[in-house]
Formats: sequence, structure tokens, C-alpha cells
Amino acid sequence: MNQDAMKKAVAEAAVEAVKANVLDGDIIGIGTGSTANFFIDLLAEFKDDIRGTVASSEASADRLRSHGIEVLDLNSTGSIAVYVDGADESNHRLELIKGGGAALTREKIVAAAAQKFICIADESKLVDQLGAFPLPIEVIPMARSYVAREIVKLGGNPVYREGVVTDNGNIILDVYDFMIATPMKTEEQINNITGVVCNGLFALRPADLLLLGTPDGVKSLTA
Ligand code: 5RP
Repeated sequence: MNQDAMKKAVAEAAVEAVKANVLDGDIIGIGTGSTANFFIDLLAEFKDDIRGTVASSEASADRLRSHGIEVLDLNSTGSIAVYVDGADESNHRLELIKGGGAALTREKIVAAAAQKFICIADESKLVDQLGAFPLPIEVIPMARSYVAREIVKLGGNPVYREGVVTDNGNIILDVYDFMIATPMKTEEQINNITGVVCNGLFALRPADLLLLGTPDGVKSLTA
């Protein structure tokens, strides 16, 4: 089974999990990326059973609307029943690195507002320790060099993601060579650097359920 087939299989499993958790009229939070796209395409089939969605990026909002699925403003919805999104890495505590698609800030906001966070990923994303995938940080443009110097002090190697502007008008630094032993502490340390909007560690609000695509089928992991 190739990686795309595993992503599709976890998206299908997420549909079943969402149907089990969501009542008529609930709002669903929608992530960003290729795995989330499989979920969006499947969601089109039961769009009439939900009140609408909140999207974590303009790209996902466009894809949802192309299927005729309503996209709502989080400020008008209150809390969200369930959030479904991919990840770049997950450890066994379901702490994640996200932001490969530069949507980390809105993803973290939707995850924070959700009662349940279902992460969908293929098995290549499960790791013992976070950090082989470079950690994305969204930064206010004028703070780029200052934040980069502060990250070096923490032991990382920040690299400016050329040509990328986030949906919020900011830039991304990707931190290489940064194995993360204590994700919650590192998430807080990076958040405390002035000029950082958000970092791609999802440890303070990890996933509640990880649906992992493997050649032997979809595995369900909880922390
Ligand atoms: C986007 C993300 C994605 O969830 C992450 O990059 C995984 O993407 P994919 O499903 O394409 O592997 O965090 O900001």
C-alpha cells in the first residue's frame, strides 16, 4: 500500500469516527494538507448532516467551498465538536509537529477550540522523539533575524522558508537539528520569544486520537 492509499484509508476511518462523535448541526474543524484533503473530499458526501465547518487555511476553505460545504467564521460558531487534521510527526503521547504547510497558527487555534482532535497520518509520521522533521515557527516579518538568533541559543538551526507568506501575512522559520526531549517545555519557550506568533509543536494541546495508516490497516492510538 503506498503513502496516498494509507492517507485515504485514515481519512475514511476519520469519517467513521466523526460520524460517531458528531450530532446533527455540529461544526467540524478542518485541517490543512494532503491527508486533510482526502478527508474534505469524503466529507462532501455527508455535508447535509453537519451545520458547517471551520477551516484552518484559505486553501482548505477553498476546497471545502468547491464541494459546496459551508465554511464558517470561528468567531460565530462557539466551540467545535471535532477537529480533523494531519501532522508532520507524532510521538506516542500524540504530541505533534505541524506546520509543513505553513498553516500552524490557524491549525492551533481550531485545535484549541475543538472538544476532540483527531489526527490522521500515515505510519511514516510516528516517531519516538519529535524533531527529525524541522520545526516550523510563524514569525512577524520584522522579528525574523531576532527570533532566529534566539532559536540558535536554544540549540536549533533556523532556516527562513523562502517565498512563503502565511495566511496571516507572516514568515516561517524551519528549525533543523533540534531533537525535542520535552515538547511542552520547548513549546512554551519558543512561544515566549518576542515576535513569535506560533510554533508547530502541539504538546500543550496534543491530539486525542491518532488514526495511523499502515500496510496492515488503520491503527487507533490514544495517549
Ligand atoms: C499543514 C500541516 C499538515 O497537517 C502537515 O504538514 C501534514 O501534511 P500532509 O497531510 O500533506 O502530510 O500541518 O500546516
